[in-house]
Amino acid sequence: MVHSATWPPIAWRPGPVPHESLEPMILNFVTRIIVAALGVVICANTAADPRSINDGVYTKEQAKVGEVLYTQQCILCHDKKYFRPVLKRWEGQAINVLFTVMSTSMPENNPGFLSEKEYVDILAYVLSLSRYTAGDSELEYKDGALDDLIVAARQRK
Ligand code: HEC
Repeated sequence: MVHSATWPPIAWRPGPVPHESLEPMILNFVTRIIVAALGVVICANTAADPRSINDGVYTKEQAKVGEVLYTQQCILCHDKKYFRPVLKRWEGQAINVLFTVMSTSMPENNPGFLSEKEYVDILAYVLSLSRYTAGDSELEYKDGALDDLIVAARQRK
């Protein structure tokens, strides 16, 4: 029996795991975290996808309430066609901006005279005047509801 001087062979000797073999593991782990984070961001974006005023965002009843207020407070200066070009100009923006303009500066002869609820009902009527489709739930101004609502050109259904 001839024994080699290096027995057991080097490769069998117990020893520390070489650092090189850890790096791919760490990289893999980091990649997974990034992929997971991206996934969360993408999902969050989809969930917060802003609705547009084409999505049936007011009710017919609300527009009727708004019509009465509009007739009392706005028609003196703004006929029923006034808002068509106005909405066009606001396209692409959150309707909250338009809401703020009207609720803080209108009626011109008595700014901020109405309650926010009344202004939002008027806004519902304004949408109906431009023949946006009504839906099952009222247009809401609370909790930033108008921040995520985008003014968009009317879609014919
Ligand atoms: C006494 C006249 C008067 C009354 C009443 C009045 N407005 Fe105005 N409104 C104006 C004038 C003047 C302007 C600025 C010039 C323009 O755009 O016609 C204006 C502008 C606006 C704008 C800005 C439009 C834009 O270009 O973005 C909105 C929105 C608006 N009015 C809503 C209302 C609403 C809603 C009422 C009723 C609650 C109302 N206004 C009542 C005179 C009036």
